[in-house]
Amino acid sequence: MTVHVIADSASKISAIRAMIEQRHMVTSEVLADAAIKRGGIEAAVVSVDIAAVDNISALKAISAKLARIPTRIFVIDNKGRLSIVQAYALGATHVFTNPVNPARLLAKLAPVEASLVPSDDPSEGTGSVEAASAGAASIAAMFSAAMNGTTIDIADARAAGGKIADSVAEDGLSDWLSTVRRHHEGTYQHCLLVTGVAVDFGLSLGLRNTDMERLYSAAMFHDIGKAKIPLAVLDKPGKLDEQERVLIQSHPVAGFEILRGNPGISPEILDGVRHHHELLDGSGYPDGLCAQSITDIVRILTISDIFAALIEHRTYKPTMPREKAYEILQSMHGKLEKPLVEAFREVALNR
Ligand SMILES: [Fe+2]
Ligand SMILES: [Fe+2]
Repeated sequence: MTVHVIADSASKISAIRAMIEQRHMVTSEVLADAAIKRGGIEAAVVSVDIAAVDNISALKAISAKLARIPTRIFVIDNKGRLSIVQAYALGATHVFTNPVNPARLLAKLAPVEASLVPSDDPSEGTGSVEAASAGAASIAAMFSAAMNGTTIDIADARAAGGKIADSVAEDGLSDWLSTVRRHHEGTYQHCLLVTGVAVDFGLSLGLRNTDMERLYSAAMFHDIGKAKIPLAVLDKPGKLDEQERVLIQSHPVAGFEILRGNPGISPEILDGVRHHHELLDGSGYPDGLCAQSITDIVRILTISDIFAALIEHRTYKPTMPREKAYEILQSMHGKLEKPLVEAFREVALNR
C-alpha cells in the first residue's frame, strides 16, 4: 500500500516512518509545506498537534486533496473528546492518540490482514474489549431489572455509554464493531452496536457534549422493552407470523412504560425509546409520527439502529457487508432524512 505521512515536525515523520516503512511504500511531507502532489496514495497518516491554530489552517488548506485519499489516519497528542471531534472535522477517517501502538496502526493500514489476526492478539483494542464488557454488563443489569420490575440504574447505564463513547472516539468504529460482534450476541450485541454506531455518527456530525450524552444514553436504553418479549420470538431466525410481529412491535411502548416513572430518566431518552421505529412518512410505529414530530436525536438513533441491525453477526446467517447495509438505508426513500443518510456515508463505509 502507498502511504503518505504528513506531520508538523521532522521527528514525528521519522517516528511514523519507523513504524510502517517495512510494510508499506512511504512518502512524506512536513505539514507547513504540504501539497499532496502525488496521485495514487491509498492512505495518509497525519501526525500533528491538533490544537495549534497554524496546523488547523494548514490542514484546511489541503483538505480537498486529503479527502481524495481513502484512508486518513490522524495521530494526535490530546486524548480529549473535543480534540478527537476536531480531527474528524478536519477529515480523519480514524483517530489514534499518542503514544500510538505500531501494531494497531499497521492493522488499520491493512484491514484485510488485520481480520486474520486471532482475537487474543494484543493489537486488538483492549479499550474496546473493556468498554464492550462494561456495556454488556450494564445492559444485562437493566434487562434483568426490567424483567423483575425493580428500578433501573440510569446513572450506571449512562456511565457505561460514556465508556463506549470514549472507546469509539479513540479506537474507531471498525474496531468497536469487530470487538462487539466477536464477543457478544443477541440483544446485547445489538444494543452495543447501536450505541457505538450512534456515537460515531454523533462525532462525525460534531454534536456538542450534552447531545452526545443524550444520544448514547438513548441508544443504550432504546430496546429495553424487548425485556418483555420471550426469547423464542426475539431470536427467531425465520419470518415472524402476524401475532409475533405485533408482539415485537410492542417493545417501544413497553420500554417507555418501564422507564417513565424512573426519577433519573430524561425526556430525550424516553423520546428515543418510544420513537426509534417512527419514520418520516408516518409509516413507522407505535404512534405513526410524521417528520415534524420526530426530533433530530431520534432521527440519528433510527438510522444507527437500522444499520446496526443489518450488520449484526448471527450464527445462522452470514454477516451483511457494510456497503450493502448502507445501500438499504439509501433505498428507504421518504422514510429517513436524506441529508442525514448522506452524512452517514463515511460512518457506514469508512470509519
Ligand atoms: Fe427497537
Ligand atoms: Fe434496536
